[in-house]
Amino acid sequence: MNYDIKTTALAGAGKQRIDWANRFMPVLDSIRVRFENERPLDGLKVAACLHVTTETANLMKTLKSGGAEAVVCASNPLSTQDDVAASLVVDEDIGVFAINGEDTETYYKHIDATLDLQPTITMDDGADLVSRLHSEETNPALVEQVVAGTEETTTGVIRLKSMAAEGVLKYPIIAVNDARTKHFFDNRYGTGQSTLDGIIRATNLLIAGTTIVVAGYGWCGRGVASRARGLGANVIVTEVTALKALEAVMDGFRVMPMQKAVQEADLIITLTGDIHVLRKEHFEAMKDGAIIANSGHFNVEIDIPALEKLSVDKGNARPYVDAYMLEDGRKLYLVGEGRLVNLAAAEGHPASVMDMSFANQALSLEYIAKNHGQFENRVYDVPESIDETVAQLKLQAFGVEIDTLTAEQEKYLNSWEMGT
Ligand code: NAI
Repeated sequence: MNYDIKTTALAGAGKQRIDWANRFMPVLDSIRVRFENERPLDGLKVAACLHVTTETANLMKTLKSGGAEAVVCASNPLSTQDDVAASLVVDEDIGVFAINGEDTETYYKHIDATLDLQPTITMDDGADLVSRLHSEETNPALVEQVVAGTEETTTGVIRLKSMAAEGVLKYPIIAVNDARTKHFFDNRYGTGQSTLDGIIRATNLLIAGTTIVVAGYGWCGRGVASRARGLGANVIVTEVTALKALEAVMDGFRVMPMQKAVQEADLIITLTGDIHVLRKEHFEAMKDGAIIANSGHFNVEIDIPALEKLSVDKGNARPYVDAYMLEDGRKLYLVGEGRLVNLAAAEGHPASVMDMSFANQALSLEYIAKNHGQFENRVYDVPESIDETVAQLKLQAFGVEIDTLTAEQEKYLNSWEMGT
């Protein structure tokens, strides 16, 4: 088995943490047990490009239990947990190509290494693997043998829909991100908690009384804004969509343009999936000591080259925090090099929320195994039945029971005749 990881020596620590995460992933675990008996993924070769975390390790184990041959590379150079990578290689015999802190060249070399498997399925987070497979540098025969793929995040789904619209997408994709049991919970509660977790671990900041600007009031932004408020922050939201801005206003947040917001901000967090949300004119207006972080998928939300250009000096302030000194002596602090701060400076989402995201991944692969001949080369939603199953299993795991419709209610809800 091929692999490229930091060291195999950390396998013991990795296994311990993977087992701990598994305690909070009962839905995925029940799927793994069923997969072991039914082997629905027999014969599939899966190349995965995901954050190499404890939760991903449990997903990889599930795919293997289902009969798939799987390899994994990192979907971000800073998110790899080297102990997890070690355990996957040593304890699970799964090929991993990921080293925390790898440079861009190694990052793409690792994506290419997963293609040596000659995958029939891709599992992506951000669409770097799919776009690499479609690029001119990659042997065109490889993309031809892929039957379908899945995509984990909002930014990846946007890129893949754009490929499909241009007619260049060469195989179908299931948008796992768009399952309600994924983005209602992972993007909102997962990102909401883990983004603050990353910033707190990196800076030891007291959130209470702090003025925090949240850029983007989508699923992730809403989560961060509400969690920050819960910890006592004074939260300002910035948006470009009227509806989302209005929602933020009615949720009780102050909303204003970024240029105004940065003047008050102690901490600014971007979660938009957009480019250069924080740029030169914003850095120039920031207070001395302002902290900047990003939790959107790519490190383009903060215009770091512009920040470098404005700075006369740069140095490490603490692990995961770089200080940029501007000409007038003000210092701005960038967390996690502007990469997903929850994964760069903390452990990513808690396992309990990834349980649902990765249950959707595993069940979507089973669905692909059964149905792939029927798809066109476009982006598909996760079937509703999968979403429903994941929600039911998660409720069961929480020990929560709900009511069922009576026959009378079912009839009423499907009729129009009865009024007052
Ligand atoms: P979304 O589409 O629900 O929300 C994005 C919001 O940003 C929209 O309301 C949009 O109007 C707003 N926006 C766009 N440009 C803006 C600008 N210049 N200024 C202010 N607001 C702007 O997307 P979602 O699901 O919230 O995802 C956001 C990003 O976070 C994506 O890149 C996604 O891939 C990533 N993500 C990160 C996770 C993490 O672990 N850190 C987890 C899940 C998603």
